[in-house]
Amino acid sequence: MRARPAAVTYDAGTGVLLLDTPRTSYAAYVGRADDIPIHTYWGPPITAEDAAHLATSTAERLAAEWECFRSPANRHEEYPLDGGLQFGRAALSVEFPGSVRAVEWRLARHEITAEPGRQELTLWFEARHQELTVALHYRVHDDSDVIDRWVVVRNDSATEAVDVHRLDSAAWVTPEQPRHRMTHLTGRWAAETQLRRTDLADGHFVLESRRGITSHHANPWFAIDDGTATEESGRVYSATLHWSGSWRLLAQRELDEPAQVLFGWGHEGFGPRRLEPGEVLQTPVSSGLFSADGFGAMSHAWHEYALRHVLPNGGEQRPVLFNSWEATGFDVDEAGQLALARKAADLGCELFVLDDGWFGRRSDDRAGLGDWWVNTDRFPGGLKPLIDEVHALGMGFGLWIEPEMVNPDSDLYRAHPEWTYHHAGREPHTMRHQLVLNLARPDVAEWVFGELDALLSANDIQFVKWDMNRPFADTGWPERPDRQGRLWLDHVTGVYGVIDALRRKHPGVAFEACSGGGGRVDFGIMARTDQFWPSDNTDALDRRYIQHGFSHLYPVRTMSCWVTDVPAFINKRRVPLTYRFHVAMAGVLGIGGDLNAWTAEETEEARRLIAQYKEIRHIVQHGRLHRLGEPGRSASAVQYVTADLSESAVLVYQEAQQYDSAPAPIRLRGLAPEGRYRLTGGAVLSGALLMNHGITPRLTGDYASTLIRLELLA
Ligand code: GLA
Repeated sequence: MRARPAAVTYDAGTGVLLLDTPRTSYAAYVGRADDIPIHTYWGPPITAEDAAHLATSTAERLAAEWECFRSPANRHEEYPLDGGLQFGRAALSVEFPGSVRAVEWRLARHEITAEPGRQELTLWFEARHQELTVALHYRVHDDSDVIDRWVVVRNDSATEAVDVHRLDSAAWVTPEQPRHRMTHLTGRWAAETQLRRTDLADGHFVLESRRGITSHHANPWFAIDDGTATEESGRVYSATLHWSGSWRLLAQRELDEPAQVLFGWGHEGFGPRRLEPGEVLQTPVSSGLFSADGFGAMSHAWHEYALRHVLPNGGEQRPVLFNSWEATGFDVDEAGQLALARKAADLGCELFVLDDGWFGRRSDDRAGLGDWWVNTDRFPGGLKPLIDEVHALGMGFGLWIEPEMVNPDSDLYRAHPEWTYHHAGREPHTMRHQLVLNLARPDVAEWVFGELDALLSANDIQFVKWDMNRPFADTGWPERPDRQGRLWLDHVTGVYGVIDALRRKHPGVAFEACSGGGGRVDFGIMARTDQFWPSDNTDALDRRYIQHGFSHLYPVRTMSCWVTDVPAFINKRRVPLTYRFHVAMAGVLGIGGDLNAWTAEETEEARRLIAQYKEIRHIVQHGRLHRLGEPGRSASAVQYVTADLSESAVLVYQEAQQYDSAPAPIRLRGLAPEGRYRLTGGAVLSGALLMNHGITPRLTGDYASTLIRLELLA
């Protein structure tokens, strides 16, 4: 397919908009009568002439199909409004003085701006009967088929506030087709990012988080196909939301209509976000992608977009880390951590992360959160002696913190109980013995920044694991009832503000986003962190499913994976060390086991595999990922190929041996067909053979695994 630079056009005469990305086009037109933009096309490239034709033919079709009881634009709206002849769920719902909710608007103007590598189209609408401006933004990139959309509203009244009940980032319309199969990610704690597929029925399908964080239970992403797409073929429409708080995705369909997916932040039913006179409110970005070549190509496009346009340092290679959590739990002290650090360095680890337990009066999860002073019973000389030694061992130093939290048993809570979310006169509900700090309060956000800034200024720290271990509840701020409706949004922007300010002041510090594992995995937090902790579940078999789902949207470069001890704490499963390594080597490798308990053979094996990982990490972290089969059935693999197709690494797994069968050949992908590749073991085979016949791994028994490397010969 031809690749071309991105372009946006808007024809003010016909109202036709056309967004061109390198391999796709997206078209709509602004309806004549009511200025509602109507979606017409999303798919492989079309011309401006085609887009103009679609505007006329769609308008004619919608008019011809019109009948009583049905709206003229049924589910074709680019951004459905509350009011008028629109009967579905609205993307924008604003309550004006006098309890009027209907927004009727007119297109005031459009604007096209270009920066190197990207172009933006903004359609400015003005409410006809009230003083409100709404801007629909579209952005396209020269190097990606992802389209970014977001919305800005401004209350133009000098005197009167309005209440925003719903403000989605976008409505994504996928074409009318016999089936609308939705692929999405579900889960729970220790079982995040489980891939699910379900047909959309006529009616509504809702995925959301009502927990204040992105959540373990659903991830803000979907893909819709007609039920026939595979990894390698088929048309797939997908979208995500760059937001780390409560969110909602609502797919709505009526008989014979397209699927229209509203995607945005917010916390349904909680109360409106008041917009004061003159105030401007901007939604997070929702990004959408059409892929003509199945789920594999879809993931490649998302990964490339994330590395180029979302991650702050997408081009960087992540170090092999050691984390103390599963080894020592809360039982941390200088001598114990030093002993682990020496062993970690000897294995080849490059970053040593001291997890929970180093601060306040924290000896279990009942106390200490909020008291970010070093516990001198455990670290008598502060953290410096440990940090110095870690550095002397050639590793970076990382620290765990949970800045949005407080235990009632802490100096912070005793001094400032009013800093937590609570309702007047009611006992707040603790979870894991902790309460959420109200980061919507500027003074609290400032305090958090001050504490972390002091910590990072006083200590030579290279990495922060930012955790968040409970959802919101009792989400009130009794002294400011006027701010009640915006707490859920302001908390997230408060967190973003603190991390952004820390990054500016401490540019050498990398951040890991963690929320009891994968409770805060999304493009919003990805834009200001360096990697995710996808799950507290480190059992290698469970991890394969979690990593499989995760990889549909999120790049391998962000997926932190540890090798831990057996039996796994979560399910008591025992699997071989090599299999554990091979699963963790499929992402950003880390070690989380108690190295004191490792035998000499295990240590030797670990040293060998860490060294091997360092040889392939540029392929794994920055190559193109191909999912060769799914975990759990017969042998399956994940394959990584460098952009120039010269190197590939394949991790093959067999979870369970069936009878005496040997694994069937596994067809590789993404190689140069004419190229000659040398494989681990010495065989030289053509890319064509490797892709059309495959490799036949020699795996015997349960939890067998192997790493095969391929190198293109000149
Ligand atoms: C959360 C994290 C773990 C660990 C603990 C510490 O559960 O996900 O990795 O840091 O907190 O309390």
